[in-house]
Amino acid sequence: MAGMEAERASLLAALALQLDWGATEALALTPPDRSAPRPATPAPAPVAAPPRGSDAAPPRARPPAPAALPPATGRAAEAAAAAADLAALRAAIIAFDGSALRETATNLVFADGAPDSGLMLIGEAPGAEEDRLGRPFVGPSGQLLDRMLASVGLRREEGGFYIANILPWRPPGNRTPTDGEIALFLPFVLRHIALARPRRIVLLGGTAAKALLRAKDGITRLRGRWHGVAVEGLGEVPALATLHPAFLLRNPAAKRDAWADLLMLRRSMDGEDPGG
Ligand code: URA
Repeated sequence: MAGMEAERASLLAALALQLDWGATEALALTPPDRSAPRPATPAPAPVAAPPRGSDAAPPRARPPAPAALPPATGRAAEAAAAAADLAALRAAIIAFDGSALRETATNLVFADGAPDSGLMLIGEAPGAEEDRLGRPFVGPSGQLLDRMLASVGLRREEGGFYIANILPWRPPGNRTPTDGEIALFLPFVLRHIALARPRRIVLLGGTAAKALLRAKDGITRLRGRWHGVAVEGLGEVPALATLHPAFLLRNPAAKRDAWADLLMLRRSMDGEDPGG
């Protein structure tokens, strides 16, 4: 009996640790046993040497090895460039197999809102709710963002803006995207902007701002100013960096800065601010 109690306690501790590390859902009914020995790779069959002095045919040359695939970043750039419209870009991202994120996510989170609104907002990566519904910014931070934008007259349901993320797939456990993942999906993001043709961009948080402005500074230095994002076919698109709504949920005092940024956006859209 004491043994069962101890086993239960250690199973609960293991579960708590997984939650701590960011596991939020089970992907398979039975967990893989990673400690089990891997099946041995079969040794290549020995090649029999031709008998000495015989006129047996010389060993045939091996068929040429298939050409190595170009690096995933190169393939992403090619796939993005080949997309002629937003539907084709969406299909190209779904078909792109260069990232493991596609395997753990439930749904592609491509974009939401009105691509022809002239305003494109770009966040970091989908969270659990976005992954479940396949739409960006629908969880708690998205709801805050919608309320803030509505207060300057920009409503998603009325076609006030278009919104997407740097990563189209949810990183497991909502972990921060790696630099490699950001670089991998950047060609898709730039093509997304080129096809939506916004007149203004809003970069939500440090990941989007650093990726698209190629900046080293953190978001607190970048926010509250107009920058430019160089996009093929569009030139420099004015881009306002601001705080991510998830940060505002954790730091309500920062809402004041975000509000100032939104007023800056509103003034620019009303033609009062030459910056953007
Ligand atoms: N945070 C993001 O950056 N994007 C989403 O879609 C949701 C939360």
